[in-house]
Amino acid sequence: MNKRSAPSPLKGEGWGGGEKPVDRPLLEIHGLQVAYSGIHAVKGVDFHVAPGELVALIGSNGAGKTTTLKTLAGLLSPASGQVIFDGKNLAKAAAHQRVAMGMALVPEGRGVFARLSVAENLLMGAYCRSNQTEISDDLARMYDLFPRLVERRDQLAGTLSGGEQQMLAMARALMSRPRLLMLDEPSMGLAPLMVKKIFATIQDVAAQGMSILLVEQNARLALQVAARGYVMEGGAITLSGESSDLLGSDAVQRAYLGG
Ligand SMILES: Nc1ncnc2c1ncn2[C@@H]1O[C@H](COP(=O)(O)OP(=O)(O)O)[C@@H](O)[C@H]1O
Ligand SMILES: [Mg+2]
Repeated sequence: MNKRSAPSPLKGEGWGGGEKPVDRPLLEIHGLQVAYSGIHAVKGVDFHVAPGELVALIGSNGAGKTTTLKTLAGLLSPASGQVIFDGKNLAKAAAHQRVAMGMALVPEGRGVFARLSVAENLLMGAYCRSNQTEISDDLARMYDLFPRLVERRDQLAGTLSGGEQQMLAMARALMSRPRLLMLDEPSMGLAPLMVKKIFATIQDVAAQGMSILLVEQNARLALQVAARGYVMEGGAITLSGESSDLLGSDAVQRAYLGG
């Protein structure tokens, strides 16, 4: 696997590192199918994320959103279909190689290392990197982005609140210097005020040029911050479009927005 020598996405003006707009999507999914023994969870989905775009994948519980993200991250193997990242077919790329290529997943339920401190969790996020100076710089940048983590840096991650764990999980993912950040239900189980904070940070990160695939059951929230969205139902994408159009559509209103 090639080492990425792109300019640091965590330095200077933003995560995008001044990338010029290109026609090619950063992430392309073609005909993706994923099955658990006997259960056909993802039934042939197509979608894409352009460089610097914030895209929402919404849908109710059991729709196949997490299965899709796990497959993108290399934690599940597709039955068929293609995952193309930055023009490369990832069929043979293992999960750790995908991290090194610039894909980072913040899993459902956060997945922080409960028995490690906040600082240790953050360093784990940089496991695929070797330049210590850059890692220290990025660590400082994470504490700027999430001031709450500074006062907690020596605390065990398992003792943090749900919202703090979500911040830590996002910061840990950003420590790998991703080009695509994949978030699985960041609002799950959090109080409204904390959800607001987390989403404000997602918008900050996006505004700095990061490409983001945001999976949410909270459709309204996700579509309020995303440029475009896809609606997933029963393992298939049933609707897609600009967020404003989806927010205004009768089908989305009825199914997801209580309209
Ligand atoms: N480890 C698993 N083994 C078997 N079936 C699973 C497993 N994980 C999820 N499923 C099933 O796959 C479908 C999609 O689940 P999931 O991707 O978690 O949906 P979502 O994230 O949209 O709630 C559901 O029917 C779920 O029960
Ligand atoms: Mg899920």
